[in-house]
Amino acid sequence: MIEILRKRRSIRKYKDEDIKPEIVELLREAALRSPTSRNFRPWRFVFVEDRSKLEALSRAKTSGSSFLAGARLGVIVCADEGESDVWIEDCSIASIILQLAGQSLGLGSCWIQIRRRMHDDSKTSEDYVRSVLGLSEKMKVESIIAFGYPDEEKAPVPDEDLQREKILSG
Ligand SMILES: Cc1cc2nc3c(=O)[nH]c(=O)nc-3n(C[C@H](O)[C@H](O)[C@H](O)COP(=O)(O)O)c2cc1C
Repeated sequence: MIEILRKRRSIRKYKDEDIKPEIVELLREAALRSPTSRNFRPWRFVFVEDRSKLEALSRAKTSGSSFLAGARLGVIVCADEGESDVWIEDCSIASIILQLAGQSLGLGSCWIQIRRRMHDDSKTSEDYVRSVLGLSEKMKVESIIAFGYPDEEKAPVPDEDLQREKILSG
């Protein structure tokens, strides 16, 4: 796991290569194994591989989401907020578990923030994503995790760049 953490970087350029169905299935399993507060499991995951839908979702924000159009998979991480008061934490954990599982399977990924972001001057990114996918109003959207085989190389963050001062004395 420490090697996966050392190598993990946000990857926003992807090869023109499909992700095998068995790999996508492992990502589904990883998402569903995420821990949740009181084991309430308030999340829902929408796995989108359709290129035109990925293109539509890539316009969820004015910036920071366009690369989804070149991804081979986008996982929308959302939750029914009525099922848990800490759905944001649960969705965030599932999002990073998806990213780390992807990394272990040779995929590159990047988190696209949807909650509290805007599609344009009047529409939230959440509303936009809900309308593209036909999700109900009660479904809160935390993130979209973009996946694909990496078409860019990023060096691990060097040890000297870790902000050791952020570890406070106990
Ligand atoms: C909560 C969260 C939201 C993020 N939102 C976006 C986003 O909307 N678009 C994007 O391109 N990257 C996004 N990122 C990726 C960060 O920009 C990236 O993790 C950070 O710059 C550190 O780079 P690294 O992941 O390569 O270590 C997000 C990451 C997190 C944890």
